Amino acid sequence: MALYSAKIAGTGKYHPEKIMTNDEISKMVDTSDEWIIQRTGIKERRIGDIAKDEFPSGMAERAAKIAIKNAGIEPNDIDLILFSVTLPDMLFPNAASCLQERLGITNHCGCLDVNAACTGWVYAMTMANSMIQTGLYKNILVCGTEMATAFNNWEDRNTCVLFGDGSGAVVLSRAEDGEGSTIIDSVLSSDSSKKESLILPAGGSKRPVRQDVLDKNEQWMSMDGQIVFKNAVKTMSSHCQALLDRNNLTIDDVDWFVPHQANLRIIETTGKLLKCPDEKVIVNVEKYANTSSASIPAALHEAVEDGRIKRGQIILLAAFGAGLTSGAILLKF
Ligand code: ACO
Repeated sequence: MALYSAKIAGTGKYHPEKIMTNDEISKMVDTSDEWIIQRTGIKERRIGDIAKDEFPSGMAERAAKIAIKNAGIEPNDIDLILFSVTLPDMLFPNAASCLQERLGITNHCGCLDVNAACTGWVYAMTMANSMIQTGLYKNILVCGTEMATAFNNWEDRNTCVLFGDGSGAVVLSRAEDGEGSTIIDSVLSSDSSKKESLILPAGGSKRPVRQDVLDKNEQWMSMDGQIVFKNAVKTMSSHCQALLDRNNLTIDDVDWFVPHQANLRIIETTGKLLKCPDEKVIVNVEKYANTSSASIPAALHEAVEDGRIKRGQIILLAAFGAGLTSGAILLKF
């Protein structure tokens, strides 16, 4: 039973400075600006520069500082860091611990990395919400930060055009009595029978990166785009509909739908299945491409900053990713 309710107290984001256009990618692989825009809606993406501290913990530091400031708290008020990331700075120490130091947090709060690929931030938010509901914690920093271009095979046109780097962060805090803002409900899923359709086979303990791996090009991700596409629209729309149904709401009650920014066609198809008007869908995939688990918190921050998302509005979030994982969150901002 929930003793407390959790609200989004502050949001933040960071994208690297370097822009890579479709035309630049067309010089590396056999593709074109026209093909990429038509199939994905992506016009450009940001590429992290290690020398500029633009890798997961460094990008998360910038996004988290904004989120903490917007929440009106101090770094040492954070009592847990959940860091959604697919490929962290290094395997250990975890990215959340690296971030704790960068933020100057000296209270020794718990630090945990969460990996559910592009759905990771939705998983982390669901975990954070439960921990606040039980009274265990008051302020949880939930980051989604990814350097997807680090495992991009720049010779594979099937995948390299799709991804970009970036970070989004949210401070989830205990809501005061009578405050309207709350996480209403969430749902998580994974269909592991389709796990081979989006996979980075090497780099873990089962298949360490050695010469035989490099010879077979297994250090890069591989993807069956159509299986991922079909599963994404099916799971995101059904999860969102389930959340609406079980909370006696309809899509008309939703002010904004913030889907994972992977592909404009996936976003539009999911919106159509939900009968959600285009004007209520937050889209920025054209600027940043698929930034994996950073995409929803970054898009959320952008819409809060420019005044589209306001306090008291009903927001629906939905994600999908490798696993094949999926999840959705219904909240009152
Ligand atoms: N440029 C030009 N041609 C290309 C490119 C490219 N970049 N990529 C593929 N093609 C070609 C293919 O080789 C194929 O050629 P063929 O007909 O001669 O065989 C043709 O284009 C059509 O390929 P399809 O795969 O049928 O194209 P589709 O319309 O399905 O679009 C896409 C491909 C964009 C990858 C789509 O399937 C998709 O978006 N899927 C979801 C991918 C996704 O979101 N992944 C992220 C998951 S989240 C995470 O956890 C990482």
